[in-house]
Amino acid sequence: MTADTLMDRAHGLAGRPAESTGISDTDFATIRDLLFQQAGIALTPAKKALVCSRLFKRLQATGLDTYGAYFALLMSGNDGAELQIAIDLLTTNETYFFREAEHFSMLAALAEKADRQRTFRVWSAACSSGEEVYTIAMTLAELSRTARAPTWEVRGSDLSTRVLETARQGHYTLARTGDMPPALLKRYCLYGTGQYEGTLLVDSALRDRVEFAQINLIEPLPRLVPFDVIFLRNVLIYFDPPVKRKVVTQLLDTLRPDGVLFIGMAETLSGVIDGLVSCGPGAYRMERRS
Ligand SMILES: C[S@@+](CC[C@H](N)C(=O)[O-])C[C@H]1O[C@@H](n2cnc3c(N)ncnc32)[C@H](O)[C@@H]1O
Repeated sequence: MTADTLMDRAHGLAGRPAESTGISDTDFATIRDLLFQQAGIALTPAKKALVCSRLFKRLQATGLDTYGAYFALLMSGNDGAELQIAIDLLTTNETYFFREAEHFSMLAALAEKADRQRTFRVWSAACSSGEEVYTIAMTLAELSRTARAPTWEVRGSDLSTRVLETARQGHYTLARTGDMPPALLKRYCLYGTGQYEGTLLVDSALRDRVEFAQINLIEPLPRLVPFDVIFLRNVLIYFDPPVKRKVVTQLLDTLRPDGVLFIGMAETLSGVIDGLVSCGPGAYRMERRS
């Protein structure tokens, strides 16, 4: 028997704590529609148990007895802070340094070829807790040491304010280092000692060079100077095809005509959007019009 069926069976039993009574189909439809409207994220029924476990503590925190009452609070529009907390909890923020490392070699090659008369600009558009942004910054900082590199700027954004807070701090457990080359760990990070044993802090020289902001990709984007490279990795999987199309179309308006868009290597844009040509695994350029 799955956790879902267990919870469904228990639903409606008076006197049970809310987590064991689960979420009714009607209440699940409410939170599914709300998350879709707020974030473009399409929750499947298989995510019911996950929603229960991620939001259970919020019932306790708000003093509400049922998921139905909690979702009514979110829907009321009277508690924007609680809505943000719920969105933070319902987004999946898995990330680590040097994830899908081939993209960073491609990034270095693009920066090396870039026009040095202007700033090379990169945006990580669903950056989660910042590891992707700092990986981009380390890649460009390395290039500046070894070759004539352009000046550069890196921005990170995400919908979740909780992960953006971590991103700004740049403080991680060593488990997040992924495939980070040891030399870069040494050059750009400080090892924690004492109570911070087992953690790293990204060096302030690098932290001061990046900027983070909250941007919801399904809403009209703020005015942005065009980017040479946009990372939009491992977020499209949460969107249905019309939302994917809308998000990518908006982003392409902020990409330079010769710029590159990276998506997750397990993701695809084929059949989603026209006018793009593949230029590597999970990498696209805009088709040149004659
Ligand atoms: C799995 S993480 C990907 C992190 C990083 N790009 C990587 O590949 O390692 C997906 C991120 O997308 C963010 N996200 C989901 N919906 C979003 C939206 N509508 N606007 C902006 N960010 C969103 C989530 O908050 C989450 O941090």
